[in-house]
This record gives sequence, structure tokens and C-alpha cells, in this order.
Amino acid sequence: MVVRPPLGDVSGLPIVGPFAENWANVQKFQAGEGDVLIDTYPKSGTTWISEIVDLILQNGDKKKAQRGAIFERVPFLEFAVPKIPTGTEVLNAIEPPRVIKSHLSVQTLPNTFWEKNCKVIYVARNLKDVLVSYYHFNRMAPVFPDPGTFEEFLQSFIEGKVAYGSWSDHVKDWWKIRQERDILYLFYEDMLEDPRREIMKVLNFMNKKLPDEIVEKILKHTSFQAMKENPKTNYTAIPSTIMDQSVSPFMRKGICGDWKNHFTVSQSERLDEYYQKEMSGTDLSFRFLV
Ligand code: A3P
Repeated sequence: MVVRPPLGDVSGLPIVGPFAENWANVQKFQAGEGDVLIDTYPKSGTTWISEIVDLILQNGDKKKAQRGAIFERVPFLEFAVPKIPTGTEVLNAIEPPRVIKSHLSVQTLPNTFWEKNCKVIYVARNLKDVLVSYYHFNRMAPVFPDPGTFEEFLQSFIEGKVAYGSWSDHVKDWWKIRQERDILYLFYEDMLEDPRREIMKVLNFMNKKLPDEIVEKILKHTSFQAMKENPKTNYTAIPSTIMDQSVSPFMRKGICGDWKNHFTVSQSERLDEYYQKEMSGTDLSFRFLV
């Protein structure tokens, strides 16, 4: 097991070191007809939307969603950790149409997804909650560099020196191309506020219709509490050498505004400043409290 390797680089995007070493296989990857891509900046609700999409495809059948862990049902494209099948190995063993997870930026996503006109569901989350969630995730997953203190991680995050780089570039670039491509752009805060409304958007985007009682089942099964207790979604199937949930659970809090418990007034102001600067000139905006 590689412990705390330095970040690697793919066309200027910092990514997890072992992921960068496996990049040639990601570049070679061929998307298939009907594949759906779920893309996010890390800690923005990837697992949540993945479970929703898989359940929609299984017509709300909970038993079918139990056929494998979330990382088997929705494989992680660029994942690569020694001694574990890589994302592309898992994906290449499944016939399309598949649901594929990635955190890649618009610029680094292999062209094959556009060539095959794959649908993309992007989920964005406000930077303060992302930062807190990512800090705890970096602490518990030794495939990331040591995050240091919260203050040190905050500084690295503002400088874009964390895995997947600048949060603002990521959310802005996907926002920019959403109208040119088949992309559904969702917000974590909207999903928290009204999960039914957001599930209906996903259904619509996937050209699916499901009766109300099935939507109700999907809602129940994808609540934070249900997913926290579900061994197929809470990542307890991953060895503790990769994710040490005794340091911080994967399903941590699942709320908007936990940043209030982490930031000093001055840290919060620095993030506000960063946000104002980075978001000026776009019509993209985030809610920090729901
Ligand atoms: P917190 O660490 O703030 O609790 P990702 O799947 O992109 O890694 O995102 C993980 C974040 O999404 C974690 O945030 C996790 O608790 C939250 N999450 C996962 N499932 C959720 C759900 N059903 N409802 C709300 N939040 C959820």
C-alpha cells in the first residue's frame, strides 16, 4: 500500500499520485453507447447521486442495488491503487451502457465521452462544505498527501494545491460547457433542500418515467441515514488501509453549513474573498446555508 504519496500531474491538473501513474490506461479508455458519466469535484455528493442514478436504472429495486458496492456498480474511471483492480479494469469488464464516476476537469476528461455523446450528470457543492469534507477525507485516506492542520489544508485548497486542483475552475468550467453538451448540472444544496425535485430532474434527463411510489422508495433509500447504514454505500467494504473510517467516517454529516463548526471568522472571510474573486463574471452561484 502506498502511504501518503505526493500528488501527480495530468496536463496541469494535480491528481492523486498513483492515479497519475496509471493515466495511460485512462487515456486509452473507450466510452460506450449509452454510458452515463457522473462528474464532480471531490466531496460534492458523488456517492449520493451515484446511488440515485443506479436505483433509477434498476426501477427503484433495492435488492438490485444491493448487487455490489457503489464503487462496483458505478466504477471510478481514474481510480488506481496498487494491488486493487483499477477503475478502467473494472469498467472494461462491464458491457455498456455503464454509469461511470470521475472527478476529472473538463480539460482532462478523455474525448471518448464526447465522441460517444455520453450524458453527464455534474454535481457541485459550496466550497466551504467541500473544503471541510475534503479535509476529513484527506485525513482518513492515505492515498492523499498528509493534509496537515485545517489551516494548512485551507491554504493548499485556496492555492489549488490539492487533488483535482482548483475548486472554482472545476465548477466554472463544467458550468460553461453545460449548454453545449448533454449535461445536467445539479447542486448538493438543492438535493438537500428538495431531494424529490432533484430526482425528478434526473429522471427527466435520463428520459425515464417512474411511478410516484417508486420515486418515494428511491427517496427513502438514498436518505443520508439510509446510505450511512447501508454497507453497499458507506464504503465499509473498502479496507481500512485505503479508507480509515476510525479517523473520519465516509458518511460524515451530510449537511449544509458544517463549515460553521470549522472556520474561524478570519478563515471564513478569506474563503468569502476567494469566492467573490473567483465567481465574479459568472452567473454561477452557491448557497452556503440551506
Ligand atoms: P460530509 O463529509 O460533509 O458529510 P462524495 O460522495 O462526493 O465523496 O461526497 C461525500 C459527501 O457527501 C459527504 O459529506 C457525505 O456525508 C455526503 N453524502 C453522502 N451521501 C449523502 C446523502 N444521501 N445525503 C446527504 N449527504 C450525503
